[in-house]
Amino acid sequence: MDNLEQIDKEYVLHTYSRDYTEFEHGENAKIYDKQGFCYIDFTAGIGVNSLGHNNKNLVESISNQAKMLHLSNLFAIPQQAKLAKRLVELSKDKMRVFFSNSGLEANECSIKIARLYGESTNRFDIITLKNSFHGRSIATLKACGQDKMHKHFAPFPSGFLYANDISDAINIASNKKNVIAIMLELIQGEGGVKAMPKDEIKNLESWCKKNDVLLIVDEVQSGIYRSGDFLTSQIYGIKPDIISLAKGLGGGVPIGATMTSKIDIFKVGDHGSTFGGNLLSCAAALCVLETLESYKNSGNLDNNIKYFDEKLEQICKDNQNIFIHTSGLGFMQGIKVKNDELLALIIKKAKQNGVLVLKSGNATLRLLPPLTITKDEIDKGFQSLQNALNEINAEI
Ligand SMILES: Cc1ncc(COP(=O)(O)O)c(C=O)c1O
Repeated sequence: MDNLEQIDKEYVLHTYSRDYTEFEHGENAKIYDKQGFCYIDFTAGIGVNSLGHNNKNLVESISNQAKMLHLSNLFAIPQQAKLAKRLVELSKDKMRVFFSNSGLEANECSIKIARLYGESTNRFDIITLKNSFHGRSIATLKACGQDKMHKHFAPFPSGFLYANDISDAINIASNKKNVIAIMLELIQGEGGVKAMPKDEIKNLESWCKKNDVLLIVDEVQSGIYRSGDFLTSQIYGIKPDIISLAKGLGGGVPIGATMTSKIDIFKVGDHGSTFGGNLLSCAAALCVLETLESYKNSGNLDNNIKYFDEKLEQICKDNQNIFIHTSGLGFMQGIKVKNDELLALIIKKAKQNGVLVLKSGNATLRLLPPLTITKDEIDKGFQSLQNALNEINAEI
């Protein structure tokens, strides 16, 4: 498009700090710009393109569904029912699902379930963790445990409390009568790709069960095989009362899902969504789940995660003047960088050298490749990243 940057700046509200490269097409973890330059995509559209770009199964499922895109939730939607059944089966828990269109909506639904559950005992406070990220609607913004998110847009809904860590969350919940839920990410995506300690999470789960406080796990970024299993909750060995999903579920088609073991919580009219769970998004999500399930069962996902992990550890070890340590799980990985200026330089140079990488909080480089990335693509991506680091080393 001629003058893309100019038109974008003229007509689109300026909420993003944008790169104006014109990407034209992609193939799995490779993405090509208008000039034909190839980049390895270690971002997957911030954890969305779980099957990479131009996945044949997904293209076919979406194309086949194009004949009927949307009905409305006033009618039964076969793909929606099938997807809910599959999600519940994969969760290995007795749950039901509400479908929406995004992560924040999945979390809004989680919050509504918790508030409804607490109504009869007059409990409504929800505790979230420092540095957490749960979305950008007024309620989910308030749920984020980051002061900078609450600078504008007041008044916010009340009923959110912030804990420094898991034991602090238990302390607050023990001392306050009104707490109905503790909501957290098992791996904080925006907050530095920080994985929560497993023993503390297990302890939190049993504390919550004993005290009838709901455990809400926001798996918007970490769910749908991103950390190596269907849910990160399964890796942690816990069964949350409520789980929110989005990002990777539709492989690029917008869909959010909230799963809960409080299966009878909603009555007709308590919640709804025009687009949520329509034929197109559910057909895409069914294809994503089917493809990833067989990828996991074949051993390919685990093998490639292991391969990626080895490369990640190596690059961290080889560049100790820039990197401090790795963090994360599976294909949701981070490397803590010495400072924010270096991080910005790495992202810029990495792109110039042919690999797209992301920023996370706490001076962390974030890597979220497509889950179907091949060993060859992993090699190319890390080689490009090393080339970028060599250039930086020559400058500093
Ligand atoms: C953990 C988590 N929760 C919620 C969200 C919000 O999702 P969305 O942008 O789809 O509303 C995000 C997005 O980055 C996320 O990482």
